[in-house]
Amino acid sequence: MNVSDLREILQYVPRFRERIFVIAVDGAVAASENFPNILLDLAVLRSLSVRVVLVHGASHQIEELARKRGIAVTNSDGTGITNDATLELAIDAAIRLTNGIMEGLSAVDLRAAYANAIIAHPAGILGGTDQLFTGRVERVDNHALELLLKEGIIPVIPPLGFDGEGRTYRVNSDGIALEVAEALHAAKIIFLGADEVVGGKAPLPRQLSIEESEELIKKLRASNGPAGLISKIECAARACRGGVPRAHLLDGRVNEALLTEIFSHEGSGTMVYSNEYQQIRRIFKKDVRAVMTLIRQSVEDEEIARRTRADILNRIEDYWILEVDRTPIACVAIHVDREHSLAEMACLYVSKAHENKGFGRKLMAFAENLAKEKGVERIYALSTRAVNYLQQKGGYNEAPPSVLPEERQARYEVSGRNSKILLKELRARGA
Ligand code: ARG
Repeated sequence: MNVSDLREILQYVPRFRERIFVIAVDGAVAASENFPNILLDLAVLRSLSVRVVLVHGASHQIEELARKRGIAVTNSDGTGITNDATLELAIDAAIRLTNGIMEGLSAVDLRAAYANAIIAHPAGILGGTDQLFTGRVERVDNHALELLLKEGIIPVIPPLGFDGEGRTYRVNSDGIALEVAEALHAAKIIFLGADEVVGGKAPLPRQLSIEESEELIKKLRASNGPAGLISKIECAARACRGGVPRAHLLDGRVNEALLTEIFSHEGSGTMVYSNEYQQIRRIFKKDVRAVMTLIRQSVEDEEIARRTRADILNRIEDYWILEVDRTPIACVAIHVDREHSLAEMACLYVSKAHENKGFGRKLMAFAENLAKEKGVERIYALSTRAVNYLQQKGGYNEAPPSVLPEERQARYEVSGRNSKILLKELRARGA
């Protein structure tokens, strides 16, 4: 681990202190080899004063128990019909798992409690069929949960709910997590599923705005995508619409996925967010120092031309930074020369810790769009060490110095850097 990782981690620690995280674990994850690691990670979160609510599913356990008892269940994940026999089995399997989780939490010295905080109603008749003992969350007893949280106790919530008559219903755990997160004004809801989120067959993007996630849900539905994953993205998007700033989908079978997601800029899974996360913005006077710090090493390595504070200030409106969670991680300058219908992309830099994540490409595309918006036809960059990068990733071609306007050519000559000139034609808009 290096210092920049530590900085990243420490940036998030105060931000999440005393905040509520609802962590929703699929039954299959609770049964996986990685579950003890997750419990250890919860202990880390608790030690940093994060308030944790643990919601768990049980469909894996229900199916297993059904096989063992030789009973056919009408549905295992709380989204279909729950008949009498299925409910009985669901209660046995879910509470057995709650108990297992209590054991696990005890083993890492965490205090936990099970409360009847999910008030449910029957899901009713859907598409003409009575869903019987399948329930939906009517209300969350947030007062009870808050009392526990205040005392440093982790509420553990099985996928069951109760009505005023003392009846139990089978409720889908994703839905419970969503309702609990909204009711408690949680800072996060984190779904730990057994689906491959990143790098799987149909990898999800690393982050999605609410609108993007709603688009994705439509697409996944249309292509008959995995139901469990769709349900989670849907709950994540709804949570964000309901005031939870960030919802995360992680592969719960991967060691360290949870802590990496929470304490790094880029995380390990997929995040749906409603608050500011990544942005490219113009710099202000107060940012000049950050830009100089960002590019310092690269200037020393002769990748980027040296520039003084005054140089930057003189053309401050040309400079842009890309921030992740308000930390500048990349920059670019775009000097537009309308007279010659040309723009220069300069000072393109991505911090070492964030290399190979597509940020450079993002800034290149941004520079091109900006240049097009300003109506210029060509964009160029001078480079000593990123020639291949600009050619391969950016589609730039080497060009002779004569393509530069006279004044720029003169500066080029005196710089003595002997950079290559890389040029790209921008198709004029509407052409
Ligand atoms: N660590 C930050 C958070 O928990 C950012 C996570 C970003 N994750 C992602 N998949 N893009 O809010």
